[in-house]
Amino acid sequence: MTAYLVTGGAGFIGANFVRLLADQRPSTTITVLDALTYAGSRTSLDGLASPRFAFVHGNIRDAELVDQLVAAHDVVVHFAAESHNDNSLRDPSPFVDTNLVGTFHLLEAVRRHDRRYHHISTDEVYGDLPLTGGDRFSESTPYNPSSPYSATKAGSDLLVRAWVRSFGVRATISNCSNNYGPYQHVEKFIPRQITNILDGGRPRLYGLGANVRDWIHVSDHNEAVLRIIDDGMIGETYLIGADGEADNLTVVRTLLHLMGRPVDAYDLVPDRVGHDLRYAIDASRLRRELGWAPQFTSLEQGLSQTIQWYRDHQEWWRPQKAATEAKYAATGQ
Ligand code: NAD
Ligand code: DAU
Repeated sequence: MTAYLVTGGAGFIGANFVRLLADQRPSTTITVLDALTYAGSRTSLDGLASPRFAFVHGNIRDAELVDQLVAAHDVVVHFAAESHNDNSLRDPSPFVDTNLVGTFHLLEAVRRHDRRYHHISTDEVYGDLPLTGGDRFSESTPYNPSSPYSATKAGSDLLVRAWVRSFGVRATISNCSNNYGPYQHVEKFIPRQITNILDGGRPRLYGLGANVRDWIHVSDHNEAVLRIIDDGMIGETYLIGADGEADNLTVVRTLLHLMGRPVDAYDLVPDRVGHDLRYAIDASRLRRELGWAPQFTSLEQGLSQTIQWYRDHQEWWRPQKAATEAKYAATGQ
C-alpha cells in the first residue's frame, strides 16, 4: 500500500486527481489536507470513504499538522494554492501566505522525513507570449511571472528547486496550462460562462476576447501527474499541455453554439489589469520521455462533456454563484 497525501484535494484539479487515484490504484490510501477556503468543496469528494480515504480539514501553513501528516505518508502531491489571478489583483496577501509560506512548510516536512514530493505548478510562471507567432513555453523558458498569483507560484517552484539542490529533497515539478472539466469553481472562465448561460445570462469577455489560452482537460493533466510521480526524474520539471490553443472569443462562441444560443450573445467587459496575452505549451519532453498523450484532443468535445456536467450538477455550483458574481460586479467584469 502506498500512502498519498494530497493537499488541496477539495479543489478543482485536486478532487479530480483523488478520484483518478482512487479508481486506478487500488493499492493506495489517500489523505486529503484542505483548508476548505471559498474554492474548496467537501462535496467534490463525496463517495470516497475510509479505510482507503481520509479527509483532514486543516491548513498547509500549520507546520505541526503538516509535519505529522507528511511523516505518516509516502508521497506528497501538492495542489493546494490560491489559484485565481483576478483575486490576486484584489488582495495578494493570501497568495503569499498559502503559495509561498505553505509550500515552505511542506518542503521542510518532506526534507525532515525524506518523502517523495510532487509540486503542481502553472505555465504562468513563464509570463506570456505574443498573440501572433508560433512561440511556445518549454522547460528552459526563463521565469517571468506577471500577476501576484503567478509570482507566488514562480516563487514556490524556486523553493522546490532550492530544496532539491541544497537538501536532496526527492521532488518533481509540473507546470500545466489552463485546465477545464468537472468541479471547477464558477469564478474561472469556462464554468463562469457555462453557468451564466444556464442562468439565462450572457458570457462576459475581458477586453476584446483576443487573449489565447492552451486548454487541457483536467483528466489529461492528472494522468500526466501520475506518470511524473511514477517515472519522472527527481529534481526535474515537466511541462504539461495538450495543444489546445484557442482565443477567448472562440471559446465563448463555441459554448454559445453548443448551448443553442446565438454565437454573438456575449458582453465585452473591462479587461484584466496586466492581462497575459497568450500561453502555449511545448509538452514534447513529457510525451517523449514518459509516453504521455492526451485523451481529449477536441476542445469542442471536452466542452460538451463539461457543459453536461454543469447541467447535471447544479446543486454543486449554485451555492457559489451569487457571491462570485458579486465580486466581479465590483470591477464591472
Ligand atoms: P482551486 O482554487 O480550485 O483549489 C485549491 C484548493 O486548495 C481548494 O480546495 C482550497 O480549499 C485549498 N487551499 C487553499 N489554500 C489552502 C491552505 N492554506 N491550506 C490548505 N488548503 C488550501 O485550484 P485548482 O484550479 O484546482 O488548482 C490546483 C493547483 O493547480 C494550484 O496549485 C494551481 O496553481 C495549479 N494549476 C491550476 C491550473 C488551472 O487551470 N486551474 C493550471 C495549472 C496549474
Ligand atoms: O495557465 C494556467 C492558469 O490558468 C492557472 O495557473 C490558474 O490557476 C488558472 O486560473 C488559469 O489562469 P487564467 O487567468 O488563464 O484563467 P481564467 O479562467 O481566470 O481566465 C482565462 C481567460 O479568460 C483569461 O484570458 C481571462 C479571460 N476571462 C476570464 C474570466 C473569468 C474572461 O474573458 N472573462 C471572464 O469572465
